[in-house]
Amino acid sequence: MTAQLRWPSVAGVAYGGDYNPEQWSREVWREDVALMREAGVNLVSVGIFSWALLEPKEGVYDFAWLDEILGLLHDSGVAVDLGTPSVSPPAWFFHAYPEARVTTREGVIMGFGSRGMASHASPVYRVAIARMAAALATRYADHPAVVMWHVHNEYGVPVGEDFGPQAVEAWRTWLRARYGTLEELNAAWGTAFWGQHYDDWEHVGAPAATPTTPNPAMKLDWARFTDDALRECFRIERDAIRAHATQPITTNFMAHQSWNTDLWKWAAEVDVVSDDHYLVGQDPQAHVALALSADLTRSVGGGKPWILMEHSTSAVNWQGRNIAKRPGEMKRNALTHFGRGADAIMFFQWRASRYGAEKFHSAMVPHAGPHSRVFREVTELGADLAKLESVVGSGVDAQVAVLYDWESMWAQELEWRPSDELQFRGQMRTWYERLWRDNVTVDFALPTHDLSAYRLVVAPSSYLVTADAAARLTDYVRAGGTLVVGPFAGVVDEHDAVHAGGFMAPLRDVLGVTCEEFLPLREGERGAVAFADGASIIGDVWQEDLTLAGAEVVATYASGPGAGGAAVTRHVLGSGQAWYVSTRLGVEELKEVFVRVYADAQVVPPGYPEGVEVVTRRVGEEGFSVVVNHRDEPATLNVTGTDLLTGAVTDDGVLEIQAGAVAVVRLGSHHQGGGS
Ligand code: GAL
Repeated sequence: MTAQLRWPSVAGVAYGGDYNPEQWSREVWREDVALMREAGVNLVSVGIFSWALLEPKEGVYDFAWLDEILGLLHDSGVAVDLGTPSVSPPAWFFHAYPEARVTTREGVIMGFGSRGMASHASPVYRVAIARMAAALATRYADHPAVVMWHVHNEYGVPVGEDFGPQAVEAWRTWLRARYGTLEELNAAWGTAFWGQHYDDWEHVGAPAATPTTPNPAMKLDWARFTDDALRECFRIERDAIRAHATQPITTNFMAHQSWNTDLWKWAAEVDVVSDDHYLVGQDPQAHVALALSADLTRSVGGGKPWILMEHSTSAVNWQGRNIAKRPGEMKRNALTHFGRGADAIMFFQWRASRYGAEKFHSAMVPHAGPHSRVFREVTELGADLAKLESVVGSGVDAQVAVLYDWESMWAQELEWRPSDELQFRGQMRTWYERLWRDNVTVDFALPTHDLSAYRLVVAPSSYLVTADAAARLTDYVRAGGTLVVGPFAGVVDEHDAVHAGGFMAPLRDVLGVTCEEFLPLREGERGAVAFADGASIIGDVWQEDLTLAGAEVVATYASGPGAGGAAVTRHVLGSGQAWYVSTRLGVEELKEVFVRVYADAQVVPPGYPEGVEVVTRRVGEEGFSVVVNHRDEPATLNVTGTDLLTGAVTDDGVLEIQAGAVAVVRLGSHHQGGGS
């Protein structure tokens, strides 16, 4: 799946952040490099927003300042991840080429004075980014400081879509390549509905503002087109660099926050996967979202170590309430990413900006300067990471796969669904959190991947399932796998058309059940689910009217519109079992389902105290457990080994971990699991 992944040449765990020296004087540069050494920083990303300085007038370059800072960093032992500045074209560019500006869905042409890429479809933009990438690569291909290239910044945000004339032209070309003829396009989009039939390619527009809901198949294709167009821009720069330079090339993803970019496809284009992650301050369990994001990042990269390109030392500035991290939280965050496969821990950004839109964003060197709690913790983290070199390069143990498909997300989030409260990301997070609380580590996967190595495959939100994907899941179960599928699954095909044969038709063989009608609940309404053995739980938002086709009923609806009907089913197929859960359940309620599913799959949760997160990285015979105590009280765990951070040895098999603390234990040979 993934091309050859290559790690930048940095010894041990890479540590650092985005560095924007253009905002500072030479005097501050000298202080910066001294502080970087103090903090153990060995890698910084430079130049991501520097186009206006690097090319002050069209075709006139000024690399002197960049030469100087790269030299200074190199002399100080700090390697450089060199950015290309395509996310922020200069004022002169938009003045000379106003047609390169992005047009919104509503037809508003966006102005200069912020950041965000030009139109991905603009030919002049594409020429300009290729030229800039080539100019940088020619100059710095052999620079001893440069160990990696950082193309663009977070494709798809703040804007991914463009509705301007050039984008519409590119869209038509894309559609012609996909469908060949208008007959095919009309069939795929179901244009017989509402009289949308096309008889001339020139009449096909973008799904811009329409009086009411636009054609969903068109919108789904538009999402695919946008993703492809952004990736074309990445390839233009990557190939321009590759023509001159050999260092690995990356671009920073946003895992579970990526909307426009299908990261399975993107990961195949980069040399090394990197990701940005920020906590949602309002979420008291934001560390669960962090773990999800880290697992997803590792998974799209085929399980290889990855780069945490950005996270924050404390508060961000762009949420409604920007919650500062409390002492120890940054370390827990950073080492959780590390435990889930990140061999580089980086921040946005090195030094807090005094001016501009991000002046209230935290940094490694905050406005308070180096004599601050944050900088002390940054320095301590650098010292901790320096002790973890032996873990670098290892993979992560996972027996369970969770299905995560961007196309299905795009389709599920289209307008006019049975209930807009049943959402892809929400379902994903809830089901993931169940597994997280049980300390069952997961990989993410597509249904079309080889799933045979996993004991259990979990599909929290699989609205779009192709016939091929359904066949693969059926084979997986038949061969002995266990599958558990959440509500509103297998409803549509790749064109967002309901499957011939009805809802869930392609999953009928594997699940032994189909759905006759969706039964969304009213706001605040709940419905009880009763298990045959007497257990009872409550679901909300959603029920379904199921038709059995071979499955046994494990639980029935005791109240709500589905009362009396099946709520949870189990189907034995070949040597495996497939479960279907047709209501929305919370993390606690899912326990009742998962305890049974684990038994079928022979997945044994380790039984660590809830709120203590344990992930194990493995290289050959050697295992390293990263233990993170998210609780306000200490815990003891049955783990034997040596904590690489403190040197403490737990040869009696009992690891004591203080409230909020982290340990990285090189495992001894004894039994692991359990605790209090
Ligand atoms: C990221 C972005 C950075 C910075 C950061 C602030 O999304 O890549 O440049 O803006 O957010 O949290």
